[in-house]
Amino acid sequence: MADSSARLVLAVETSCDETAVAILRGQELLASEVASQIALHAQYGGVVPEVASRNHLRMLQPVIDAALNKAGISLSNVQAFAATCGPGLATSLMIGTSAAKALAIGFRKPYLAINHIEGHLLSPFFGNPEGIRPAIALVVSGGHTLLIQIESFGRYHLLGQTQDDAAGEAFDKVGKLLGLPYPGGPNVDRLAREGDVAKYDFPRSMLDSDDFNFSFSGLKTSVRYLLPKLETVSLPDVCASFQEAVVDVLVGKTMRAVKATRLPVVAISGGVSCNSRLRENMRAACEARGVELLVAPPALCTDNAAMIGYVAAQKLAHGELSPLTSDIDPNLRLVA
Ligand code: KG4
Ligand code: ZN
Repeated sequence: MADSSARLVLAVETSCDETAVAILRGQELLASEVASQIALHAQYGGVVPEVASRNHLRMLQPVIDAALNKAGISLSNVQAFAATCGPGLATSLMIGTSAAKALAIGFRKPYLAINHIEGHLLSPFFGNPEGIRPAIALVVSGGHTLLIQIESFGRYHLLGQTQDDAAGEAFDKVGKLLGLPYPGGPNVDRLAREGDVAKYDFPRSMLDSDDFNFSFSGLKTSVRYLLPKLETVSLPDVCASFQEAVVDVLVGKTMRAVKATRLPVVAISGGVSCNSRLRENMRAACEARGVELLVAPPALCTDNAAMIGYVAAQKLAHGELSPLTSDIDPNLRLVA
């Protein structure tokens, strides 16, 4: 039998609006293809579940073919099939998991059901020679804002989470208020580069609370109340001041966790970890404390299948296979 650390894994990610397929040989990424549906959903101002699942169905086969081509292998070479089983949109999750299970049955290979959040959580360790290490992890995406203490692979302790909106959701809602195209996050980031971070004093909710939780809905409401009061709206200034408030809280809470646990590594992941100001300020805060910062390249921060394949490779190496009867769970949690 081949060395389990070098087995060929094909991973599928269809939890939201990206149809993604990756192929890994052990820890080596051979292909990572992503067909984004952003343009399709932009006209509705957000993801429409019906439209998403129909397009996963249409795109999955060509995206699998593109990944196999890139990796220079055929389906019969694949030694395990993995797919995101949750959390996410039920009808989208069903497309990816059904395809991966069908392939596992057809080729008589193992199936691995992967938690999307674990994919994000561990993505900063992908390709790192030291592997998965104890760290404070900040997962910030469109659906999640979590502070987690990682002990080792599979051993995670929840420190705190958002009490209302996720950080990415706040970016997207504020983007919508400002009339920016969906998704708001990257557009707010781009405009903020020309703006004044101190122009408006938006609230840093829960920054000083004695815990590791977050709240972003009040901040979004402050932006909503401010806009009608302005004679002229300088988009860059509103974006920069709003973004600074989000980043201050994310960095502040992460550093509070570093202080409390004395862990020397911070790992940030999820779509919002693409944010240029978050990266800049988190790096500065980590440097000031002598803490190492791990961030995945942007293509591995937003939804992708490489991160799903990376978790699958870990599970395979640990002999943690999933039964073909395992179901999707749109509300799947990583830690209680
Ligand atoms: O991880 P992801 O692709 O999907 C989820 O699992 O939710 O994250 C998408 C989120 C969106 O809310 C998007 O606006 C945000 O990540 N995002 C950003 C940036 N790039 C993506 N937010 C702020 N700044 C960015 N540069
Ligand atoms: Zn995601």
